[in-house]
Amino acid sequence: LARLPIVDGIARYIEEDNAPFSMPGHKGGRGFLFTEEGKRLYYNLIRGDITEVEGMDNLHNAEGIIKEASELLSEFYGSKKSYFLVNGSTSGNLAMIFTSFSEGDKIIVERNCHRSIFNGIIMRKLRPIYVKNIISKKYNAPFSIDMEHFFQLLSEHEDVKGIIITYPNYYGVCVDLKIIIEEAKKRKICILIDSAHGAHFGIDEALPESAVNLGADIVVMSAHKTLPSLTQTAYLHAGNNVDIKKLNFYISAFTSTSPSYALLGSMDYARFFLETKGKETYRACLKIAKRYREKINQLEDFHIISNKDINDELNIKGINLDESRYIINVQKGYSGHLLLRYLREKGIQCEMSDELNVVLILSPFNIEADFEKLYQALKTCPMELLVDQFKEVVISELPKMILQPFEVMEKRHKAVKLSEAAGKVCANSIVPYPPGIPLVMPGELLDEESIALIEVLIKQQVTILGVDGDTVLVIE
Ligand SMILES: Cc1ncc(COP(=O)(O)O)c(C=O)c1O
Repeated sequence: LARLPIVDGIARYIEEDNAPFSMPGHKGGRGFLFTEEGKRLYYNLIRGDITEVEGMDNLHNAEGIIKEASELLSEFYGSKKSYFLVNGSTSGNLAMIFTSFSEGDKIIVERNCHRSIFNGIIMRKLRPIYVKNIISKKYNAPFSIDMEHFFQLLSEHEDVKGIIITYPNYYGVCVDLKIIIEEAKKRKICILIDSAHGAHFGIDEALPESAVNLGADIVVMSAHKTLPSLTQTAYLHAGNNVDIKKLNFYISAFTSTSPSYALLGSMDYARFFLETKGKETYRACLKIAKRYREKINQLEDFHIISNKDINDELNIKGINLDESRYIINVQKGYSGHLLLRYLREKGIQCEMSDELNVVLILSPFNIEADFEKLYQALKTCPMELLVDQFKEVVISELPKMILQPFEVMEKRHKAVKLSEAAGKVCANSIVPYPPGIPLVMPGELLDEESIALIEVLIKQQVTILGVDGDTVLVIE
């Protein structure tokens, strides 16, 4: 009998009717059905899945409706020029790296970067210098980059050509970007921002400031993560110092030549939505988020982290949390991964988990019933289901870099057991997914600390790219 595994899988998922606290930002279509304009797109979506037919525009050489919509996008976000991306922030990150740097350039990049940034570093043959993260001792979540380390690196490496920062990180935590941008401008080096999770920033004063407004050179945002836009859609915003000819080339090179108008239309709509309804709906979203955060925080076993918690623990000026995101923390002895699984069984789709936290992405399209479902599930959670041996493995130092990441591509490699890998040079990226942040990069030494952490993650059944069973690839 002919089978349809993917089509069946989609139908099964829809049937579960989970409360949507994950991507995409339209939350199962609600974001389109919210307005008359959105409904028009929603009901035309499949028939609107066309590409450059006569009378429509060409994304790779926009002169008509795409050009007009890009100008509206640029005006709304306050950029010099803005682009629609149909291959996600992944393509935007690659394009901004290729536009801004040349082979062999040294750059400062935070370790807490997405895979696409690291892939760009390898493909463009850059020499990365990593800034350490600050991991909260209380909540075991990455709260910021270590600014002291950042300034130390800047003074030690006067020849860096640019800085790449993730703003916010997956947890919604924002560094003091203003200071970093000022520093970059002072040194006349470029500052690139992966703002995949920040497309809604700046729409209300209660949210963090948009990286575009803060003056970054290039900012990439996933429209699909927080806005009512289809999966895969993203924006790229360029500032005054960017070589537009080069940027046009690289964006085009990393983009399909058959962009769907369904994707393009949804990006146009997401901007329209923010412009016309963004402020009032985000206000309402933050209000209900606060109300339920306070309610959930009265439960003994769960704590949703707030801006105040972060500032109380770190006391570092300028850190800001996007409070349209929930980080639900469990106490040591319980597992964030098991909580995520439990919530899914209760019909609640979260975004991701780590050892002690579960991250939820909220949007104006989450209704009171979603929050109530979450609250009830947490309230009635049998805590014994979440018991896990939390073994804290602290990575005090970043692994030592022996080879540049791009140099590894040309080397011969072999698979070895993790238990025999200590002291060897890793041949690929080892990335727990989510959040997609490399523990070990190609060319770095596999030390005892990293191996211990990988072993813990395997036991906790976390998906780890770059580890096959209990083996890893090392340089021969
Ligand atoms: C920080 C960050 N940057 C970039 C990306 C890639 O975005 P996209 O999935 O839109 O390609 C992600 C995806 O999770 C991300 O979390």
